[in-house]
Amino acid sequence: MRHPPKKVTYRFSPKTQKLVRESIPTYAEVEKKIRENFGTFADSKNAPIHRWFQYPAGFSYKAVNYILDQHVIVPGHTVYDPFVGTGTTIVVCKQRGIESYGVEAHPFVHEIAEVKTDWDINFKALREEIQNTSLRLEFSIADAEREDVSHLPKLVRSCFSRHNLQRLLFIRSFVQQSVSKRFQKLFFVALTCALRQASAAATGWPYIAPKKRIKEKDGLEAFIKQLYRMIEDLESVPPEFRKTPSHIILGDARNSKLPSSFFNLGFTSPPYLNNYDYADRTRLETYFNGYASSWGDITEKVRKKLIVSATTGFIS
Ligand SMILES: C[S@@+](CC[C@H](N)C(=O)[O-])C[C@H]1O[C@@H](n2cnc3c(N)ncnc32)[C@H](O)[C@@H]1O
Repeated sequence: MRHPPKKVTYRFSPKTQKLVRESIPTYAEVEKKIRENFGTFADSKNAPIHRWFQYPAGFSYKAVNYILDQHVIVPGHTVYDPFVGTGTTIVVCKQRGIESYGVEAHPFVHEIAEVKTDWDINFKALREEIQNTSLRLEFSIADAEREDVSHLPKLVRSCFSRHNLQRLLFIRSFVQQSVSKRFQKLFFVALTCALRQASAAATGWPYIAPKKRIKEKDGLEAFIKQLYRMIEDLESVPPEFRKTPSHIILGDARNSKLPSSFFNLGFTSPPYLNNYDYADRTRLETYFNGYASSWGDITEKVRKKLIVSATTGFIS
């Protein structure tokens, strides 16, 4: 007759048991780790498309993925972000084939979001446009020395050497005159994104510090590099998601006319009372692109349209 095998029981000492217990993270700890950077731009800094413009007011693209998973939002649903900023929510939705809507009141931030979500592109034509533009710019950039920079606000002049600023201005005019209409916005956004990369002043967010000098990079090189980064990211989008509809409206979220009032999910990060003045922090880009030419001008054309998120703006 065969006997059943003897049952062997392993016993760990209470000390080992405690060690094991403490080394297994609890659900809450895992959850906390996952959500650690949700409120910051850290995750998005190196992620394709999100990385084009380092918007410190932006949140993590992983936060959007997480929330879409939690609420089982799938293609066929619609998502809304009333303070869409540079479009993090919309980019993620598009990457998942989900239609989405966003509103942004800052004109230059809106333009970034628009370009980041324009994926229905003839890539061969875009590559050719980038190659031709680089060649023609290399050939003609010496003429940049004729550019007049004196009309630009001091903040812009203090971020670059005269030589580099002349080159950046020359590139801007070149894009305006020579790049095909279809790709012009993308090229302008590339130039805008290259500004802080090329600057001789510390432009790390949130404040630009003109007195803190850093190694300046050639504006033309930064611009071309940015263009190639953009096309590489765009080409990485699976073809089936390139046509996912997305709608980014330039306007005030408090009274925007949306084509639909039904959404399956709303996800946003509104302007908090954290003294973060979006118009102030984006002065370099706003001035360079000619949206405004002085602080008074920025207040009139941009700040008045934004929800005040600075407590210093309140009078009691
Ligand atoms: C916290 S940021 C959102 C950033 C966004 N989640 C992203 O990842 O880029 C808030 C945004 O609200 C915008 N904003 C301020 N007032 C607004 C208004 N009245 N209507 C629409 N957008 C507004 C600001 O310009 C800013 O870009």
